[in-house]
Amino acid sequence: SAPGKCILFGEHAVVYGQPAVAVAIDARVKVEIEKSTSGWSIDGMKFDKNRHPHIDSIRKRLWSNDGGPPLDINVSSELFGAAGLGSSAAICSAFAAGLLHARGTDSAALPHSGIATTAHLAEAEAQEGRASPTDTSASTLGGAVFISNKKEKLAEWKYTRDLRVDGVRRTWEVHQITLPDSVKDAFLVIGFTGRPGPTSEMVSKVADLINREPERMTEIERIGQVTRAGVTALNLGNLEAIGIAMNECHRLLQGLGVSDDDLDRMVEAALPSSLGAKLTGAGGGGCMIALTTEPRRTSEAIEMAGGQVLVSPLGAPGVRIEEITENPLWKS
Ligand code: MEV
Repeated sequence: SAPGKCILFGEHAVVYGQPAVAVAIDARVKVEIEKSTSGWSIDGMKFDKNRHPHIDSIRKRLWSNDGGPPLDINVSSELFGAAGLGSSAAICSAFAAGLLHARGTDSAALPHSGIATTAHLAEAEAQEGRASPTDTSASTLGGAVFISNKKEKLAEWKYTRDLRVDGVRRTWEVHQITLPDSVKDAFLVIGFTGRPGPTSEMVSKVADLINREPERMTEIERIGQVTRAGVTALNLGNLEAIGIAMNECHRLLQGLGVSDDDLDRMVEAALPSSLGAKLTGAGGGGCMIALTTEPRRTSEAIEMAGGQVLVSPLGAPGVRIEEITENPLWKS
């Protein structure tokens, strides 16, 4: 299983090499696998690689290209689907870890950077090459992750990811932030609009805007600056400053055209009882988040504005094997 995630700061800008911070949340995706007697299947149906391009990419890389036998796959999720909470990244991460374990990797020795890399490449293939490693890193490593185009002093460096995006080679350095105790007093209330947030469509919308109006790149850079201020605030455990950085990110994302009326209404409703609020993920539907020490009051406000809510602390355990197999399903 692997957790979903919320982006605290830096969505969209991270696709262009700016920094971003995401936290794993207390809602997980579980992927169960067993040997099939009748060919590849997913959730009881014949596997269709066009419907599940992520899963197809991972099964090729980690299993079938080496001659692994067909599997029955079952996916269950505590997350709102297609909502910007990283459910596809969590599926990728959990499936990759499951396949490695099924080939004999010890559950206590899962290679996190390898799993995150495989999951990121699968996401990128499904998003026309435009995917940052934010979601896949948060669901693999858990806790809070800080993605940057350079190695940072403010966090523990974990691994490097690179990818060609729109003809430009992008490199991301993936770090983990150890959250101070004061952050544990706060919660994220996640409000789902009830409408999916179409990630690749929204990422393309921003790409088109920047192609048309290259000067808009300054807003992408500004999101990067706010993210850096947010990281300092996180390291200090300064909840007010974290909230201010979230509010500023929301304003900038509105400017890029990725928010909408539902998200804006829920953000407004959350603000009186929270430290900060913003859309999270790709936008265009999907979810918003509010940072609050009064999760019940904030949840009620978001529900009154039409959202479905989920409450989580900031950070949750990363990918893990839930059921340990003594005998590998298959060993090449
Ligand atoms: C999606 O959760 C976040 C985006 O920044 C896309 C990405 O990072 O791949 C919009």
